[in-house]
Amino acid sequence: MVSLKGGVGKTSVVLGLAGAALERGVRTLVVDLDPQANASTVLDPREVTYTSNDVLADARAGVLRQAVSRSGWGDLVDVVVAERALEHRNRDLPSAGRDGTLRLRIAMDGLDGYDLVLVDSPPSLGDLTRNALAASHRALVVTEPTLFALHGAQQALDAVDVVRRSSNLRLRPAGVVVNRVRARSAEHAYRLRELEDAYDDLLLTPALPDRAAVQQAAGAYVPVQAYRSPGAREVGQVLGGYLERLLGIDGASGPLGGRAGATRRSR
Ligand SMILES: Nc1ncnc2c1ncn2[C@@H]1O[C@H](COP(=O)(O)OP(=O)(O)O)[C@@H](O)[C@H]1O
Ligand SMILES: [Mg+2]
Repeated sequence: MVSLKGGVGKTSVVLGLAGAALERGVRTLVVDLDPQANASTVLDPREVTYTSNDVLADARAGVLRQAVSRSGWGDLVDVVVAERALEHRNRDLPSAGRDGTLRLRIAMDGLDGYDLVLVDSPPSLGDLTRNALAASHRALVVTEPTLFALHGAQQALDAVDVVRRSSNLRLRPAGVVVNRVRARSAEHAYRLRELEDAYDDLLLTPALPDRAAVQQAAGAYVPVQAYRSPGAREVGQVLGGYLERLLGIDGASGPLGGRAGATRRSR
């Protein structure tokens, strides 16, 4: 999950996709690479022994497995938690070079038992986000429908392309999520059209609406899908659609499991 701006909903989308995966029996691991550790907190982990900071410090093949904690969400969702000390790994030092950004990928080597691994990242293109991108098949960009949305999304997509060319040729953009859309806002409608014009098929539809349930569910340490309100149901449905598109399930062709190149936006 990438955006070079904070507070746009990366963590909420990671958690929402994990909740959608849980509903569908998709075995999921969430790797939290954000020193803020918000996803880790909401996933309410059991017995934590190592963190993603330990994993990056000791990046031997397969070491990630040792840092997996069970989440409080049930057997289908595990988590590698973040901690504040990750902060110092995010410095964008040229000397960190390519090797410094392949640490997560190496540590994930041979990982099995999951259908889906979601990596939450901090809101900058430092070494943590580079590690996330270097280890991933797909990058999902999150943005809000505001003045700088287009610029922000493009910056994130450019960053994805830089990592693809320098260290991970299998990496592809999985799409752009527009989050916190308010149906009655003319400004949001305008920005949404702007993004549609720019990204067409890459835009995940429908956009994710602004609903209090997203915050309420996080505050209760549960997936939004488990929260009982009309807003939660609506958000849950949208996220379920995203997950199915990403995994190419339910007949929808998607970049992870579907027929390549056949993704179509429903209008
Ligand atoms: N669709 C939404 N509706 C309402 N609130 C949202 C929505 N998405 C995110 N939020 C809230 O916005 C804040 C920032 O979201 P978060 O996912 O933490 O962003 P990021 O990880 O990009 O910093 C959080 O308080 C979160 O609960
Ligand atoms: Mg976050």
